[in-house]
Amino acid sequence: MKARATIHKDFTIARIDDRLYSAFIEHMGRAIYTGIYEPDHPTANAQGFREDVLDLVRALDIPAIRYPGGNFVSAYNWEDGIGPRDQRPVRLDLAWRSRETNQVGINEFAGWAKDAGIEMMLAVNLGTRSIEDARNFVEYCNYPRGTYWSDLRRQHGVEDPYDVQMWCLGNEMDGPWQIGHKEAKEYGRLADETSKAVKAFGRGIETVVCGSSNDRMATYPEWERQVLDECYENVDYISLHKYFGNTSHNTLNYFAKIDETGRYIQAIGGVIDFIKAKKRAKNDVHICFDEWNVWYHNREQDTRNWREWDWPEAPELLEEDYNLEDALLVGGLLNEFIRRSDRVKIACIAQLVNVIAPIRAEKGGKAWATSIYHPYQFASLYGRGTALDVAVDGPRYNAQVAHDVSYLDIAAVHAADGRSLAIFAINRSPDEAMELDLALNGFRDARLIDHQVLGGEGIGAREANTSADPFRITPRKGDRLSVDDGTLRAELPPLSYHLIRIA
Ligand code: AHR
Repeated sequence: MKARATIHKDFTIARIDDRLYSAFIEHMGRAIYTGIYEPDHPTANAQGFREDVLDLVRALDIPAIRYPGGNFVSAYNWEDGIGPRDQRPVRLDLAWRSRETNQVGINEFAGWAKDAGIEMMLAVNLGTRSIEDARNFVEYCNYPRGTYWSDLRRQHGVEDPYDVQMWCLGNEMDGPWQIGHKEAKEYGRLADETSKAVKAFGRGIETVVCGSSNDRMATYPEWERQVLDECYENVDYISLHKYFGNTSHNTLNYFAKIDETGRYIQAIGGVIDFIKAKKRAKNDVHICFDEWNVWYHNREQDTRNWREWDWPEAPELLEEDYNLEDALLVGGLLNEFIRRSDRVKIACIAQLVNVIAPIRAEKGGKAWATSIYHPYQFASLYGRGTALDVAVDGPRYNAQVAHDVSYLDIAAVHAADGRSLAIFAINRSPDEAMELDLALNGFRDARLIDHQVLGGEGIGAREANTSADPFRITPRKGDRLSVDDGTLRAELPPLSYHLIRIA
């Protein structure tokens, strides 16, 4: 099949917020314990964090990380994780029926994040707790000295405040599974008052209010309307969550979920605009897509396990072996965030290590990159700058979740320094190669500087990076591409992802 596309240097969508490439990590499964933290591991540093995992994390250049949950946060006492470790309580985590030892708390995590070069985005518990705990947590983290909570932090060995600028007001409060689940108006009021208290600590602080847990919720998008009606003028972002799966083994329908996600973003954009107009508000609220990823390979079995098990410590949970089509889906979702970067300012891949993650780490053993690590890394490293509109004229298909879906999934980012252009292109077709003809208006003298490919070359859609074969899905240099006189010509094999950089 053939596809034509056009980019123009001056046809821009938005300046991308670097935080589009953020991540999320929760106290659940083996994400923290034996994921990032394992004092007995051969690579553990003096703080007990795994250096093999840190190396993989650092190579992603993640701008921000949401912590400590997730469903976990809705019954979490942050004070359990501070002070001398031998005096910290062991608690039952109601979200995942697990045992939480509290050996990692805010100070240990902050040290890890600093070491990894990542800014923290913290969530407060609005399930079992309220404004006062949020206020105390912010004061412990952000206030310099001379008050109860700031001096307690200093007693705990942390002289300088963390100055955390991003605060999430609870997690998935629309979900009946959430401990302390609330009605929209009730939550909107609480979020409004909590946001005011959190923001009292400094002008730069931004808050994220909970939107729907996904676009299938019965209360979506009425939830967003009612919540924003209560708190629009006091928050900066509304969160979106969405997880993806291909249980029916229908690859084209799976990829059409990228377009469905675009509709989700568009719908919430509409709700934001409606409330802004209704309130005659001056401020803007943007989207923080703070949980997104593939989650389906072991989902049913995992759900059965955690509902029945006897409160284990750091159990195996949501450890997915991602395959080629998962990598393409993740690449396509990142493309969608780039295409919608006027609305979506922050997005967090969920999660980072072991639990539905780009990085896997065996207890006492090796760490490796799953297939989805690669498109995430490429977007994070080269997707910073200004998103350019790409006009596509090519074959399309209809699927169950969306109609008129393009086989070519493409996004382009003009680097912040204006010197290079990154193109992220995917051929979604499972069986046909694509001849791409891309006009690069405004880049007439540009030359190819890199072309990396995932897939093609007979790699099957369901082949995965596993413990036994951790490098099965790995980028390789592409060779069927030319850039000449402002035109890029390429042959994209079936089911392939391409990072193309020109300068
Ligand atoms: O990321 C796993 C879980 O998915 C999170 O705890 C929750 O917020 C969402 O339902």
